[in-house]
Amino acid sequence: MNYSIAVLEGDGIGPEICAGAIKVLNKVGEKYGHKFSFTRYDIGGAAIDACGTPLPEKTVEGCLASDSVLLGAVGGYKWDNMPVDKRPEKGLLGIRKAMGLYSNIRPAKLWKSLVSASPLKYEAVKDGIEIIIVRELTGGIYFGERGKGGEGKDEYAWDTEKYSVYEIERIMKIACELAMKRTKKIISVDKANVLESSRLWRRTVHEYAAKHYPEITVEDMLVDNTAMQIVKNPAQFDVVVTSNIFGDILSDEAAQVTGSIGMLASSSLGDGTRGLYEPIHGSAPDIAGKDLANPIATILAAAMMLRDSFSLQREYEAIEKAVESVLEDGYRTADIMEEGRTKVSGSRMAELIAERI
Ligand code: IPM
Ligand code: MG
Repeated sequence: MNYSIAVLEGDGIGPEICAGAIKVLNKVGEKYGHKFSFTRYDIGGAAIDACGTPLPEKTVEGCLASDSVLLGAVGGYKWDNMPVDKRPEKGLLGIRKAMGLYSNIRPAKLWKSLVSASPLKYEAVKDGIEIIIVRELTGGIYFGERGKGGEGKDEYAWDTEKYSVYEIERIMKIACELAMKRTKKIISVDKANVLESSRLWRRTVHEYAAKHYPEITVEDMLVDNTAMQIVKNPAQFDVVVTSNIFGDILSDEAAQVTGSIGMLASSSLGDGTRGLYEPIHGSAPDIAGKDLANPIATILAAAMMLRDSFSLQREYEAIEKAVESVLEDGYRTADIMEEGRTKVSGSRMAELIAERI
């Protein structure tokens, strides 16, 4: 089969980590008889520099015409003081919206060979961690109405958190489908003791599960308590469903407790099979161009694309196994380096993984 992949390298380490993923995909293609073709489009700061906007029309068109999209990372010091509409982040939010990608799946897993990288005590992580955060991605306060006015001490600004039953149900459906393949347990995170939008969220997730997935247990957890529980007892979580802003915050926390944010990938999907796959980490401008960046998260994002957009389960597993085996043999990029291991560059890490496909 032929698959056309739009590649949005973005900023900072984006180009180098995408190169690593492309290397591995090409090897998978060779081995399993697929042809992957890659077309690059600008996004984020790179797009601002090239065409004055973080999300050029050509990029949106290219992504919509592709079979799926691989993204590196956006953002950097250079654009930090740009006006809101000319910030790299706007490109990322915009492409998610333009592609209708309302569901963002962020698995935070503790790799066996990297248990000691977790900042938590051994007691807290010894049973393993695999928290799958299902984050609503195109609604809520990141896309709600906003405004500003006044002046001096009376100057003000506001944003709105708003969710409809329709939006909550469609993300809950994704969480339920995932939970059915796993523990059949979902923790839904909200702030229903304060927010009206959270009360609707809470009522809707229960009604939806009771009606469509009666085998699933849905437990509610307030977001502040969740933040605490993730560091106290991360093993209690499996599938977590939550709003855009809470998912944004909690997914960074969950990633960090695994100790290896450079290892974690995420997928964003809508109603079809075309998705956007990216590492969870950012553009790390401080190490860009030094061949230090860990390409594994992006390589695993590419693997998720094979599984979730193209239904290539075997190929997904081949990549995951290759990553595991390279780690087991002691190879580490700088971010996950420990005493007694072999330190390698980002490009070498990608090569090692590709060789083992
Ligand atoms: C993420 C990032 C983005 C988000 C930013 C860069 C707009 O933090 O993917 O989690 O908030 O969604
Ligand atoms: Mg974030």
